[in-house]
Amino acid sequence: MVVPYKHEPFTDFSVEENKQTLLEAIKQVEADLGKEYPLIINGERITTEDKIKVVNPAKKEEVIGYVSKANKELAEKAMKVADETFNTWRKSDPKFRADILFRAAAIVRRRKAEFTAHLIKEGGKPWNEADADVAEAIDFLEYYGRQMIKLKDGVPVNSRPIERNQFHYIPLGVGVVISPWNFLFAIMAGTTVAAMVTGNTVLLKPASATPVIAYKFMEVLEEAGMPKGVVNYIPGPGGEVGDYLVDHPRTRFVSFTGSREVGTRIFERAAKIQEGQIWLKRTILEMGGKDTIIVDNDADLELAAQSIVQSAFGFSGQKCSACSRAVIHEDVYDQVKDRIVELTKELTVGNPADPSRYYMGPVIDQAAYDKIMSYIEIGKQEGELLVGGEGDDSTGWFIKPTVFGDVDPKARIMQEEIFGPVLGLTKAKDFDEAIEIANNTEYGLTGAVISNNREHIEQAREDFHVGNLYFNRGCTAAIVGYQPFGGFNMSGTDSKAGGPDYLIQHMQAKSTSEMF
Ligand code: SER
Repeated sequence: MVVPYKHEPFTDFSVEENKQTLLEAIKQVEADLGKEYPLIINGERITTEDKIKVVNPAKKEEVIGYVSKANKELAEKAMKVADETFNTWRKSDPKFRADILFRAAAIVRRRKAEFTAHLIKEGGKPWNEADADVAEAIDFLEYYGRQMIKLKDGVPVNSRPIERNQFHYIPLGVGVVISPWNFLFAIMAGTTVAAMVTGNTVLLKPASATPVIAYKFMEVLEEAGMPKGVVNYIPGPGGEVGDYLVDHPRTRFVSFTGSREVGTRIFERAAKIQEGQIWLKRTILEMGGKDTIIVDNDADLELAAQSIVQSAFGFSGQKCSACSRAVIHEDVYDQVKDRIVELTKELTVGNPADPSRYYMGPVIDQAAYDKIMSYIEIGKQEGELLVGGEGDDSTGWFIKPTVFGDVDPKARIMQEEIFGPVLGLTKAKDFDEAIEIANNTEYGLTGAVISNNREHIEQAREDFHVGNLYFNRGCTAAIVGYQPFGGFNMSGTDSKAGGPDYLIQHMQAKSTSEMF
């Protein structure tokens, strides 16, 4: 028996001891920077000449590590291994597989400060965001382990006399897992172990900006008893390794989290039947968002401003769940706007490794910096710049939290995903119009309503078309097993990571019927 699941608590860094533990861990991680990391195929370490240079986004000259880079040949080698290993792994006891996850959770928990420190460096995450990322990785391990145990005997079905019917789930085959850089630990670990604990073998291609944490996680899985060949670590360029594996006839499913552009490309490519392919590939796709918080005229306006600012600027807005649009009832627009501007002006930006603890760190890389800065220029044409608007990429990629007022709901900065610290405000004449504006993008991931009007809350529950809808709180920070996460429309396949039906998407159901 395992104890019931409960999410991992967050660390309170205002407690001096916790602060000192983390500062110590940051020093240790700093001593470990700049190492080389090989690929891992069938447990074998393979070093390539060509390397991914991984840098700290807050301090460009600080190299986190040099990671070997897979190519088509190595991807093919990994595919053969995963395909062969599937023959044995698919027959392994689900409890044995779940135990690997539980042991891995215990290992990560023991080394929590070290992992948090690493995410501060490799991901540019502020302390609380890095801590939450590690906690979420632990949660995925604990939650999916328990979900697998629940699913292992299948689901009861009816049987007539002298007949025994059974319905149970079997694994699919080789899964290609392509993970993002924003939740570099949690989503990477969650998507990998969901595929693995269900009896599939995995080719893990982490984001090129953050592959070192994935190597460290491979070591955790090995220490936890994962047999070789089950998860293979093959970082490499999406255009070469990603496409090759998505197209491969032996790929059974693809689990991707990232941009809409790459997600739709994977969806299209995976749909094409290749020579020798004998199945329809499955895709689990978590893509972007253009998430809205609605403020009603009957609302706690302080709560509204706080929720908007935190959801917009936590981790510099680099979450698919981030609030990038606030739709505010015209009666309270000026009040909420002024408070948002005040709160935003108080936010600090700087190197997250610094003990003074800035609220926001950098954005992930030069391409992100350039894209966000160009949207800020577009925003200046489309609305009134209320606060922020500046960037500095001299030592790291820093952008001030930026708010635009009186933006047309159809403007580009209100429709296109920016994935940075940029927020647009717009007015609605009543609640119906607010809902209409909230639904006017091609995405449907998260949203929130700040209101004390019960009818409006119930109206939004029905009509605000997003996968994760929140009332009287911000629209980020879903917790595994508490708020299963995933969106509608161009936000993806609504696969609901951290939810009760997530694992089933990595399996297929088999009915057996025996006459006695
Ligand atoms: N799950 C995260 C959140 O809710 C986003 O990926 O913020």
